[in-house]
Amino acid sequence: MATIESMTELLVDQLKDIYDAENRLTKAIPKLAKKAANEDLRSALEDHLQETKGHVSRLEQAFRMLGEKPKAKPCPGMKGIIDEGNEHVGEDYEDDDLRDAVIIGSAQRVEHYEIAAYGTAIAHARTLRQDEVADVLAQTLEEEKAADLKLTEIAESVVNIEAAHGGEMEEEEQRPQRRSNGRRQASGRQRATAASRSNGRGRRR
Ligand SMILES: [Fe+2]
Ligand SMILES: [Fe+2]
Repeated sequence: MATIESMTELLVDQLKDIYDAENRLTKAIPKLAKKAANEDLRSALEDHLQETKGHVSRLEQAFRMLGEKPKAKPCPGMKGIIDEGNEHVGEDYEDDDLRDAVIIGSAQRVEHYEIAAYGTAIAHARTLRQDEVADVLAQTLEEEKAADLKLTEIAESVVNIEAAHGGEMEEEEQRPQRRSNGRRQASGRQRATAASRSNGRGRRR
């Protein structure tokens, strides 16, 4: 393995990693979208697939700005997140809403990984005064954040509620527990998707 000797090389190395991750996602997102029962969720994933193809193009642009040819370097992190997501989504679920809740959780893990990766690459590009590169990557970062927020909204407005109501939640509904703010106590399943709700909103549980 070659030694990374400069910040520029480090940035290029990171771009290779993200390039691999984004390319993997162009194949992984359609599979998730296909399994989604909720229409809003499916169309959010399909929209983000189109954006993801744009992310690949922007990375190619960033490589060229740095005088490099676009090249991928295997990203075991994203590979692992995708494998884990496929495994969870492939389990048997009593109803589609439960699977949708899992799809959202898997997709948000992907988005958070991307947000972290782009955040670092942008910071390094700014340090190198490669502002054009940073600006191109920042456009993608905004789309990743928006995709994450959209998933949170879908989870809050539809999927988690339906998933909870389909199961043991019904029993709890007959004897609702109330907290001081008037919100009903979350069920186990709602707690399981609490990350979805807190993402992007900074709400603490
Ligand atoms: Fe992306
Ligand atoms: Fe993304």
